[in-house]
Amino acid sequence: MRTLLLAVAAILLVTLLTLWRLTPADREIGEAPPPAYPPSADSIERGRQLVTLGDCRGCHTARGGAPFAGGYAIPTPFGTFVTPNITPDTTGIGSWSATDFWHALHSGYTKNGTLLYPTFPYTNFTKISRRDADAMYDYLRTIPPAAGPKRVQNLAFPYNHRLLLIAWRWLFFRPGVYEPDSTRSADWNRGAYLVQGLGHCSACHEARNALGAVQSKHNPAGGLVLNWYAPALTSPREAGLHEWRVPDILTLLKTGQIASASASAPHATTMGPMGEVVYGSLQYTRDDDLRAMAVYLKSLPDTGPRSGGLFRFTATAATLSSGHEIYDKHCAQCHGDNGEGRSPAAPPLAGNRAVTMSSAVNPVRIVLFGGYAPGTGGNPRPFGMPPYLLALGDEQIAAVLSFVRASWGNDAPRVSGDEVARNRGTPLF
Ligand code: HEC
Ligand code: HEC
Ligand code: HEC
Repeated sequence: MRTLLLAVAAILLVTLLTLWRLTPADREIGEAPPPAYPPSADSIERGRQLVTLGDCRGCHTARGGAPFAGGYAIPTPFGTFVTPNITPDTTGIGSWSATDFWHALHSGYTKNGTLLYPTFPYTNFTKISRRDADAMYDYLRTIPPAAGPKRVQNLAFPYNHRLLLIAWRWLFFRPGVYEPDSTRSADWNRGAYLVQGLGHCSACHEARNALGAVQSKHNPAGGLVLNWYAPALTSPREAGLHEWRVPDILTLLKTGQIASASASAPHATTMGPMGEVVYGSLQYTRDDDLRAMAVYLKSLPDTGPRSGGLFRFTATAATLSSGHEIYDKHCAQCHGDNGEGRSPAAPPLAGNRAVTMSSAVNPVRIVLFGGYAPGTGGNPRPFGMPPYLLALGDEQIAAVLSFVRASWGNDAPRVSGDEVARNRGTPLF
C-alpha cells in the first residue's frame, strides 16, 4: 500500500511538473498529407486484413453486440475499462478524419485531444506505418454504422483521472513507427513489425509494473492478464519458440494447437485469452505474415532457464498420494495413466510446459472451468476439458495438480488450495 501511495504521489508530482509537456510537437509526429479519396478497393481489403490481425473487433465488440460498436468490458487491476464505438456512426468515429484516427493509434489521443488509457494498446500500435493506419481507417469506414454506449470508465481513484496519463506517457510512452533493422532479413523485419506493433503480443506476454506499463523489452517474465498467465515468449520453459521449426509455429498460431508432438514442437494448445487471439485474429492471418512472425519469434533473446530441478518446493507425500487417487478417478481416462495423453482427444500432461511452468494459474483455471482449444479451420471440432468447479474442492484440485506437476518427470512447485480459491471467483477471462 505504501509503495502504491508513493507511486501515486510521484506521479502527481511528475504530472504537475509536466503539465506543459502536452506539446503540439507530440501531436504532429507522423503527420502526412491526407490520403486519396475515395479509397481504393485494394486499400480497403488490406485494411480489413490489418484490422483482423490487430484483433480490433475482439476488444471493440460487446458480447452479442454489433461488431466494432464497443461496450466490451475489460477488467484490470485499475478498474474496468469499457471500449468505445469505432464504427463510422456519430457515437463512434463517424466524424473522424484519417489523421484523427492516426493520432489515436500512433499517439494515443482522441479527436478532441483526450488522452487514452494504454489498455488500448497504442504503446504497440504506435509502430504501425501511416500507410497501414490509413488502410485500416478506409476499411472501418465501410462497416455498418451502429450506435454504441457512452464512454463510461469505471476506474478506481486515482486512475480515473486522465490527467495522470500525461505523467504516465512521459514515463513510459514514446511514439514511433517501426524502424527496420537493415542487418536482418525482410521476413524478420516484417515479423518484428507485426509482433511488436499490430499483433500487440507484448501487451499480454510481458510483465507490467505497478502502474500498468510493460516493464522492459527484454523482460524474461510473462504477465498476468485477464486472470490468466501469459507465459514469456523469451523462455523455452514457458512459451519460447526458439527451437521450433517455422512450419510448427505456423500450425500453432493458425490452428490453435499442435495435436501430436513433432520433432521440434512439444504438444501445445492455446486456451483462454490466447484461444481468443487465435480464434478472432491469427487463424485468418495470411500464411506469409505468420511465417514472418515465426521467423522473428524464433530470434527473440532466450532468457529463461532450461533444465528442470529448479524447484525444491514440493508437496508432502500425503498430498501427492491423495492427488494420485483423484487423478486416477477423474483424469486418467482422458490424460492416460502416466500423463501420456490420448491423441487427439486429450493432451499429454507429462512434459507439457503449460502444466510445468512455474505459474500454476493456467492449469488451475482449466481444471476449475474446463475449456476448449479455439475452433479453427485447421481444428474445427476441438475436444473439451470438463470443468471440475463443482466436482472437486479447492484442496482436491490443488492436490491433483500438485501430483501432476511432480510426476512422470514433471518438476514444478506445488499448488496451494488458496491459489485455487482465488481463481474460483473469477470465471471470466
Ligand atoms: C486490448 C483491447 C483493445 C484492442 C485489441 C484494441 N482496442 Fe481500441 N481501445 C480499447 C480501449 C479500452 C479504448 C478506450 C481507452 C480509453 O477510454 O482511454 C480504445 C480506444 C480506441 C480508439 C479511440 C476511440 C474514441 O472514441 O476515443 C480507437 C480509434 C481505437 N481504440 C481503435 C482500435 C483499432 C483500430 C484497433 C485494432 C488495430 C483497436 N482499437 C484494438 C481497447 C482495445
Ligand atoms: C490477450 C492476451 C494475449 C495476446 C494479445 C497474445 N497472447 Fe499469447 N498467450 C496468452 C495467454 C494467456 C497464454 C497462455 C495460455 C495458452 O497456453 O494458450 C498465451 C500463450 C501463448 C503461446 C504458448 C502456447 C503454448 O501452449 O505453448 C504462444 C506461442 C503465444 N501465446 C504467442 C503469442 C503471439 C505470437 C502473440 C501475438 C500475435 C500473442 N501470443 C498474443 C495471451 C495473449
Ligand atoms: C473428457 C476428457 C478429459 C478429462 C476427464 C480431463 N481432461 Fe484435462 N484436458 C482435456 C482436453 C481435451 C484438454 C485440452 C483443452 C483445451 O485445449 O482447452 C485438456 C487440458 C488439460 C490441461 C491443460 C493442458 C494444456 O496443454 O494446455 C490440464 C492441466 C488438464 N487438462 C488437467 C486435467 C486434470 C487435472 C483432470 C482431472 C481432474 C483432467 N484434466 C480431466 C480432456 C480431459
